[in-house]
Amino acid sequence: MERNSNNSWTILVVDDEAVIRRLLCQKMISLGYNCLEANGSQQAMDKMNERPADLVILDIMMPGGSGMELLPEIKKAYPDTIVIMATAAGDAETAIKCVRMGAYDYFTKPYNLDEVALSIARALNTRRLELEVLDYQNNLEEKVKVQAHKIRNSFMNAVTALALALDAKDGYTSGHSGRVSEISVVIAKELGMQDGSIENIRLAGLIHDIGKIGVKEEVLNKPGLLTPQESEHIKTHPAIGERILKPIVEEQEILDMVRLHHERIDGRGYPDGLSGGQIPPGAAIMALADAYDAMTSDRPYRKSLGHKIAMEEIKKGSGTQFSPDAVEAFLRVENIIAPKAVKP
Ligand SMILES: [Fe+2]
Repeated sequence: MERNSNNSWTILVVDDEAVIRRLLCQKMISLGYNCLEANGSQQAMDKMNERPADLVILDIMMPGGSGMELLPEIKKAYPDTIVIMATAAGDAETAIKCVRMGAYDYFTKPYNLDEVALSIARALNTRRLELEVLDYQNNLEEKVKVQAHKIRNSFMNAVTALALALDAKDGYTSGHSGRVSEISVVIAKELGMQDGSIENIRLAGLIHDIGKIGVKEEVLNKPGLLTPQESEHIKTHPAIGERILKPIVEEQEILDMVRLHHERIDGRGYPDGLSGGQIPPGAAIMALADAYDAMTSDRPYRKSLGHKIAMEEIKKGSGTQFSPDAVEAFLRVENIIAPKAVKP
């Protein structure tokens, strides 16, 4: 809130004597403050609950509840409200006690109105500075957050662009990452996964094969069957992908999907040989989407199997290669996924 003029501050004068309240309020109003009055503790709390004042002038000696009892109540309910005690001359000890209990200052009656005005101005000025610092800190945190988000997004865009470029370069798998991403999202939605996870799956699908940057091109595009060594070499790509992304991707869910998209439910996958529930759901979904797209794409050594045969293979692989939950969801949304098997 902007606090550039006195008229944005509200002062509550709590005193059992109407004359004193009026005197103080007249002075405050003449200085441009908003001023409210309360004749005792009960009315003071009622007024505060209705509209918390920025500053309270609190009489210590009042019938029906002293200002000293009300002070901790106000500080507890409204810690940001400044309380200045008003005390009879000669009772400085009580006033000092109040300062120890959280009062900002104290005035001695009879009031010197100019001194009162000065003390109030000083107190509210301190409060204004505190609010400005707080405002600055809040804005700064927000700005840092926005910048960090922007930086992360541009990194992710760069990585995604790189992954898609990699896809485009390989004539046989062109568009593969985009399709794996789309198919995975369809399955994840069918499984009722949360929005945050679905977004992670969408992103992970686009970059799941980024580690192929580290695989030799002649192996990646080899037209014939791979030797055992070449096969082992290709199997390094999920771990390489995770390593590439780790410095820029905070979400463990995404890193897991990249690393574990070739795991099998029976534990015969790679790189970690995880099985059953050890494989995170996102990675299980991606493994299925990846395999479906591979089967329905032309490869250097074979033509596409087509949707129908791919579906048979997926059903056969349920519980061994694929997660049965993911397969069941896949079957329920088969009609949405099938058109993606027709490659341009
Ligand atoms: Fe892969």
